[in-house]
Amino acid sequence: MMPELEHDLRERYDAPLLTEVDGDLSGVELAVVGYGNGVTADLMDRLPGLKAIVNFGVGYEANDVAEARRRGIPIANTPDVLNDCVADVAVGLIIDVMRGLSASDRFLRQGRWAAGQDFPLMRRVSGARIGILGLGRIGTAIARRLEGFETEISYHSRNRRDDVPFAYAASPRELAAGCDVLVVVTPGGPATRGLVDAEVLTALGPDGFLVNVARGSVVDEDALVDALEEGRIAGAGLDVYADEPRVPEALTRRDDVVLLPHVASGTVETRRAMADLVLDNVERFLADGTLVTPID
Ligand code: NAP
Ligand code: 8YV
Repeated sequence: MMPELEHDLRERYDAPLLTEVDGDLSGVELAVVGYGNGVTADLMDRLPGLKAIVNFGVGYEANDVAEARRRGIPIANTPDVLNDCVADVAVGLIIDVMRGLSASDRFLRQGRWAAGQDFPLMRRVSGARIGILGLGRIGTAIARRLEGFETEISYHSRNRRDDVPFAYAASPRELAAGCDVLVVVTPGGPATRGLVDAEVLTALGPDGFLVNVARGSVVDEDALVDALEEGRIAGAGLDVYADEPRVPEALTRRDDVVLLPHVASGTVETRRAMADLVLDNVERFLADGTLVTPID
């Protein structure tokens, strides 16, 4: 999770790492879990006294949510406090991949500018058409930032919103077909697995860019590699991958992709706010059996 949070939990509670507990786990009342280490049904079997799960992060798909519901175990996550930082990184990825910032940095360091070469012309961000797949808390924060770039914003979610001025697309494919940059910011888990598939990428088109700050599972990564290799899309900016921390060599060798190591919420301020929200949830639950930020 985060060393400071583990330290705070150990200082305030009897809070060993689960892997440190030998044998009997029946005394565990509350599990605090970090990214990729959710509470599975098997782990619930080993934690018969478990009363609640607190997830460090807004995405909680690593937990067996259905099984937790069935057993009456509530789950809390850390929504909202990370919206700004994740949205900042999404906008950063859009600018980087469209203008080739990382690629031109490499170009300069390789001595190619000094050798008289010109970096190729890239694509204009201001005024671009942006499609947001998942106009939730973070998606809305991304849209608000991009309004400042005078972009044309459309979105697709399962439910149409009547409180935003953005155009609604009826499907991910329709959204992709009508934008220059498709920004993916849905939850992960089985319901969104492969939502961005070969058909959606083809609809995005040879001048279109993909940005994913959601989960690697939402994009069919093999289809993404094929689309890049065949020139069916122009480039991609990614913070998340199908099998983290492994990133396919087919992506790392390309200059038209920007690859970040799942860092969108990774600032001192935001990680501290996430940790504080975890601690608030733990404190409240132990005091009165309720959570500050339960999932729906
Ligand atoms: P949120 O407020 O719940 O928004 C999720 C959006 O996705 C909603 O608009 C939802 O609308 C839409 N959606 C859900 N299922 C969908 C589907 N099958 N098809 C189309 N749209 C769908 O969540 P959030 O707080 O913005 O966070 C979004 C996700 O970002 C997290 O779950 C997490 O996976 C990811 N994230 C990544 C990082 C990172 O470090 N890269 C950091 C934070 C979060 P409808 O219900 O109307 O469909
Ligand atoms: C991670 C995230 O939780 O909130 C989410 O869903 O993906 C991130 O904020 C973070 O990397 C901590 O592991």
